[in-house]
Amino acid sequence: MKKLSLMLFFVLRFNALIAQEHEMSKDYVAPTDQLVQANLKKWQNLKFGLFMHWGTYSSWGVVESWSICPEDEGWTQRKGPYSANYNTYVKAYENLQTKFNPVKFNPDNWVKAAKDAGMKYVVFTTKHHDGFNMFDTKQSDYKITSAKTPFSSNPKSNVTKEIFKAFSKENFMIGAYFSKPDWHNENYWWPYFPAKDRNVNYDPAKHPEQWQKFKDFTYNQIGELMTDYGKVDILWLDGGWVRPKNTIDTAVDWQKAITFNQDIDMPKIAAMARQKQPGLIVVDRTVAGQYENYTTPEQTVPTKPLDHPWESCITMGNSWSYVPGDKYKSANEIVNLLIKIVSRGGNLLMNIGPGPDGDWDPVAYSRLKQIGAWIKINGEGIYNSTAVAPYSEGSIYYTKAANSNTIYAFATSTTDAVTLPSDIALHLTGINKVKSVTLLGGKKVKFTADNGIINIKVPAGLQSNNGLSHAAVFKIQY
Ligand code: GLC
Repeated sequence: MKKLSLMLFFVLRFNALIAQEHEMSKDYVAPTDQLVQANLKKWQNLKFGLFMHWGTYSSWGVVESWSICPEDEGWTQRKGPYSANYNTYVKAYENLQTKFNPVKFNPDNWVKAAKDAGMKYVVFTTKHHDGFNMFDTKQSDYKITSAKTPFSSNPKSNVTKEIFKAFSKENFMIGAYFSKPDWHNENYWWPYFPAKDRNVNYDPAKHPEQWQKFKDFTYNQIGELMTDYGKVDILWLDGGWVRPKNTIDTAVDWQKAITFNQDIDMPKIAAMARQKQPGLIVVDRTVAGQYENYTTPEQTVPTKPLDHPWESCITMGNSWSYVPGDKYKSANEIVNLLIKIVSRGGNLLMNIGPGPDGDWDPVAYSRLKQIGAWIKINGEGIYNSTAVAPYSEGSIYYTKAANSNTIYAFATSTTDAVTLPSDIALHLTGINKVKSVTLLGGKKVKFTADNGIINIKVPAGLQSNNGLSHAAVFKIQY
């Protein structure tokens, strides 16, 4: 049986990499609420967060939600024994609820690993597009705490609550990912019509009562998340196609296909949410305006600093969801990503998908451990830093400490072991009188400073076999 289901996983494996990505908004509107401004500042200083996509889809080891969406693109292709018939497939997919039993779930292990790695905030999928609720909503029985779900008898079955509680204890900022579209809800994909694509499958203008029911449902669910789950700092709203028609950018491919006005009434939702969670950061991603408090480039790093708060969300493996045998990025790649992002003033939200048993792939733990070893020595150049010109030159990246005359130069390496040349030239302008240059985790090094060029003299013993990994960080005080 075990062998069979394992085979099934492999047969059903999708390549989530090719999923059409949410593009970043081009416009940004700064929030006027001072509590939101303060929270955003605090969040910008955290730099490194943990994202988790987890749902019943993890049982099959397939891409999150998308396989039930009848769009014509490659990644929505159904595979496996139920694939020949759409309705049978959706039934089988929804039936995963009756088998979902992640008995190894213990968020304390995740908190420990994430904290050791230097992560400071968490964003968790309370509900993805498929509509399966990973929290104890009162609005639907399609949820982890339903009597239909075996895990409901577990004292930790309200996993959203357990995750938020465990991470809060260690002072992580807490983010609730919530998908605005809900492909299980009869007022979003109305069974009267077949669903054609990711969008609402009827015209809300023609059926306003039906759309109103969906709005109420969404409002109530978000209300629950803002009320019963402790302190929530970020409401991370996905599914940017649920948006007012006048905000559609027809230059963006996936937005072109939005035919109907899908106004969910964000002003009302945000006002309620902020009444319950003062200072809440709202990320109505890709819907530029006052409810997108930061932008969310997906699986990419902007080529230069942006003039507003932003966060790159990037998978540690290739998929957002757990897929068996996924190929995880190396610790070296992840550290390099973090440095690049922070040098441009952004945050890295790194995703790990928990498996059907309720735990991560051991590889994820080992990556976090390696990252943590580097962070412990070099984190002072990461946290509470700001971007500083020239941001980078070649393989060197810069950050500046927020409140002191200190710049950090990250000499990055694409191999685990760092080798350094005898001289490193830094072109930092506007710095008078360099006082000292120190290798983090090491000693002061000699340097010359002339005409805006700081030349670090790397002693022979530090050039190779120096025990440094991923990136050597020089602290420049002036
Ligand atoms: C992509 C995926 C979606 C996922 C999101 C996270 O848009 O298609 O499933 O939740 O990335 O940023």
